[in-house]
Amino acid sequence: MSIGILTSGGDCPGLNAVIRGAVLKGTQIYNQEFVGFRGGWRGVVEGDVMPLERKDIQGISKQGGTILGTSRTNPFEGDGGADRVRDNMARLGVDSLIAIGGEGTLAAAKRLTDAGIKIVGVPKTVDNDLSATDYTFGFDTAVQIATDAMDRLRTTGDSHGRCMVAEVMGRHVGWIALHSGMAAGAHVILIPEQKTSLDQICAWVQSVKDRGRAPLVVVAEGFHLDSMDDPHSERGLDAFGRPRLGGIGEILAPIIEERTGLETRATTLGHIQRGGTPSSYDRVLATRYGMAAVDSVMHQRWGRMVSLSGTTITHVAFEDALGKLNTVPQARYDEAAILFG
Ligand code: F6P
Repeated sequence: MSIGILTSGGDCPGLNAVIRGAVLKGTQIYNQEFVGFRGGWRGVVEGDVMPLERKDIQGISKQGGTILGTSRTNPFEGDGGADRVRDNMARLGVDSLIAIGGEGTLAAAKRLTDAGIKIVGVPKTVDNDLSATDYTFGFDTAVQIATDAMDRLRTTGDSHGRCMVAEVMGRHVGWIALHSGMAAGAHVILIPEQKTSLDQICAWVQSVKDRGRAPLVVVAEGFHLDSMDDPHSERGLDAFGRPRLGGIGEILAPIIEERTGLETRATTLGHIQRGGTPSSYDRVLATRYGMAAVDSVMHQRWGRMVSLSGTTITHVAFEDALGKLNTVPQARYDEAAILFG
């Protein structure tokens, strides 16, 4: 019997390092065999597999994306369901699954585990929004990409004396905005956890302008003004029925320009933050997660997710890992806000 690995949900840098860590430790230490399910839960529901031997994972920890492909497929929709998954696994000789994904992936994994399917989870999301782990892999790389982009925005903003608005990812939480904004010396950081008024935003921008500097405003896609009920969304819903976000920077820029008289440009970083080479931190974390996930399979810790506590890899039950977001604490925002304006 082999162990099946899948990567599900939005991709992020480090997925391949998890796969490599799991396969290397599993083959070398436990003499286990692996298969990869293509395209996340879609591959599990359709029985679409690819070989995962040592030769298949050589040198991949530095590659972005995932060699297995991913999707936002919900395994309980359409032809899916626990029986279908169980039948496919039995037919393919797969005894257990390592599911690498975020909140949606792990929620599906919990439902399947409750139905008796043997699954361990690995936490992934650039947003760093899972509360049961100190860090998810992919976050560090996204912050570095966003910081590099903001450093560039600042030189063009400085040259023209413009206000630059940089929109970053962060559906429910503002970790990418907070860290990249702080690293780049942003004058305003707007995050989903902190509703803010236009008056306040423009007052910060105005004070930067008055000092003769070119303001940098960082905004997370999930931010909403105190006058808005929900985050800005203009592109419908995703497969899990969640609004597709993006575009709040373009909404804010003309308003800031009109109110402050300062020419303002918006840039949405979007999926650039999820692409390309993982940072060394993410490669190490992802490799350790992959190896720990195999340990969990061997110890039959079904329904548990590997997690990071300080610098130690540990594991938590799916039910404790789900449903509670890792939001930016008030103290962390207040600390950053001292430098606004
Ligand atoms: O969940 C991670 C994330 O990058 C969010 O920050 C963003 O809202 C979403 O995925 C984008 O999803 P998609 O790649 O499906 O457009």
